[in-house]
Amino acid sequence: MPTAIVTGASKGLGRALANGLAEQGWKLVIDARSAKDLEETAAHLSNQTSVVAVRGDVSDPNHHFELVEAVDSLDGSVDLLVNNASTLGTTPLPQLSELDAEAFSRVLETNLVAPLRLFQTVAGRMALGGVVINISSDAAVEAYPGWGAYGASKAGLDQLSAVLAAENPDLHVYAFDPGDMRTDMHQAAFPYEDISDRPEPESVVPALLEIITERPPSGRIRADQIAAPA
Ligand SMILES: NC(=O)c1ccc[n+]([C@@H]2O[C@H](COP(=O)([O-])OP(=O)(O)OC[C@H]3O[C@@H](n4cnc5c(N)ncnc54)[C@H](OP(=O)(O)O)[C@@H]3O)[C@@H](O)[C@H]2O)c1
Repeated sequence: MPTAIVTGASKGLGRALANGLAEQGWKLVIDARSAKDLEETAAHLSNQTSVVAVRGDVSDPNHHFELVEAVDSLDGSVDLLVNNASTLGTTPLPQLSELDAEAFSRVLETNLVAPLRLFQTVAGRMALGGVVINISSDAAVEAYPGWGAYGASKAGLDQLSAVLAAENPDLHVYAFDPGDMRTDMHQAAFPYEDISDRPEPESVVPALLEIITERPPSGRIRADQIAAPA
């Protein structure tokens, strides 16, 4: 069975996708920074598939080598890399006039530099025709006040994905915009709002699985552009 790396898979969209992949028999390498949620997720997934959980921060290049070691403990090949782990940066989200430059750099490091570094570290093990999915956001293309750091990082990720696709015609490279989801990150962005009207992250998984299975031309894809499978 194929192998996937999914970063930030202990909660939210990452965990929902890891579940969906496990149900299809994918072997998994997953990560997150906090051990508790990661271990619980790995224990659940291991009822369905081979899973290696590696605690670490995607902004730490050494952690990327640990992820590759985990791949090698499975079958040494990566069919799918999902750069999902991400940060909003400082919350409440500051206006650009108040944005601390160090905090901005940390957002770029996690959301933009880390996905590229991880791709570079994994590239030698990517299967021919493999898939790279970089999780983007509508904040990459819409100008929401307060979302400058995060939005700029995701806009950069979109462009990085497009260039990666142009440079690697043997791979399928997507920037995927999931839309609003009821997750911890979304609640942190809207701390005083009831977000129970937002869809669960599981609602987005069929669109991701459709992309992974059908492998349409590389590009930027919004979840709502993918028809729900019959
Ligand atoms: N929720 C939305 O409405 C929404 C909308 C558009 C796009 N997105 C995007 O969707 C993706 C998933 O977001 P989500 O809402 O599912 O977030 P979430 O529920 O907060 O989950 C984030 C996951 O990433 C892990 N993580 C965070 N920072 C990490 C780091 N530096 N290194 C390793 N793991 C890290 C978290 O675990 P630890 O904290 O333990 O590390 C957790 O497992 C993100 O790329 C986000 O930008 C979300």
